[in-house]
Amino acid sequence: MKAARIHQNGGPEVLRWEDFELPAPGPGEVRVRHTAISLNFSDINVRRGGFYIAKPLVFPVILGNEAAGVVASVGPGVSDWKPGDRVGYVGVGGPFYENTGSYGEERNVPASSLVRLPDGVSDQQAAAVMLKGLTAACMINRIWRPKAGDPVLIHAAASGVGILLSQWLKHLGAVVLGTVGSAEKAAFAKAYGCDHPILYRELDFVTEVKRIAPGGVACVFDGVGQDTFMKSLDCVRPFGMLINYGNASGHVPPLDLLLLAKKGSLSVSRPAFSSYLSDPQTTHDNFAELFDLVSRGVLKVEVSRTYRLQDVADAHRDLENRAFMGSAVLVP
Ligand SMILES: NC(=O)c1ccc[n+]([C@@H]2O[C@H](COP(=O)([O-])OP(=O)(O)OC[C@H]3O[C@@H](n4cnc5c(N)ncnc54)[C@H](OP(=O)(O)O)[C@@H]3O)[C@@H](O)[C@H]2O)c1
Repeated sequence: MKAARIHQNGGPEVLRWEDFELPAPGPGEVRVRHTAISLNFSDINVRRGGFYIAKPLVFPVILGNEAAGVVASVGPGVSDWKPGDRVGYVGVGGPFYENTGSYGEERNVPASSLVRLPDGVSDQQAAAVMLKGLTAACMINRIWRPKAGDPVLIHAAASGVGILLSQWLKHLGAVVLGTVGSAEKAAFAKAYGCDHPILYRELDFVTEVKRIAPGGVACVFDGVGQDTFMKSLDCVRPFGMLINYGNASGHVPPLDLLLLAKKGSLSVSRPAFSSYLSDPQTTHDNFAELFDLVSRGVLKVEVSRTYRLQDVADAHRDLENRAFMGSAVLVP
């Protein structure tokens, strides 16, 4: 069996395509033959090493938390799954960033972590949408939901999570403002529901937001973090919300809560979608909602780029260089 493994933390060059031994699935486990493996920014954070990891990694490590594929075989005691079933998974229980292993041709996972893929959703679409879509769902269903006409600001609106947030919030009636790193990304974001793309490398996004939504936006969705967080507080209208869900540019520094009072009684939230998957019924319901939205075309999910799994270092470089839009998928 082949996998992309790391033997130390570092840049994309630490990813090595090599043989590994995969034992037969144990009791309660299913062996999944991956057909589409997800690429997430968190894979880069784990590769680099740092604040996500509570315990030191035990090398070699196969990265990746999410994939789609088919059941290859089942271990003792597994009755819900059979060879040939189309499945997906996001995380396999336990600490999310430490229980990785998707960057391989096959993987044994607990049967309880699998979700059945509906006919209307392809393997590549599933790999592109599960984690990112559940992240959007967590924010929209649990933290902040727009009322019709509410202006919202989405940072990196052409990103994997950004295009899902844009489509979903617009479907719920929001007016979507979104920051983007290039004119090409502006056109892309627009095609996915962003009404007002803002070129934040060229223009001051606070000024632009105030021009488009003079009273400020009702909510900011910020996956960029360090570079955008503090200025985002100036975009939110009184009693509004700022959700920081990611750190693509670096971790947000500690926040003086008094600032939230001074800026207009604002709220700030820092979600991790894994809290959202903490009980099986919630997980099941949220997958069902997500796949329904995709099947009905409310959420358009097009894989913008694919890479061979053995070329995953190139994929990491492109992701870090902000070189692509939407979701990319690794193909074993
Ligand atoms: N809280 C959670 O549970 C959760 C779940 C999923 C993802 N996340 C986090 O959310 C963030 C976005 O995820 P995603 O999948 O949408 O990411 P993505 O598709 O890789 O997009 C990241 C985008 O961020 C922008 N960016 C700004 N500064 C950057 C920098 N210094 N380096 C790289 N990119 C930079 C770039 O867009 P522009 O060129 O337009 O600026 C880039 O395309 C990531 O930090 C990810 O870890 C969190």
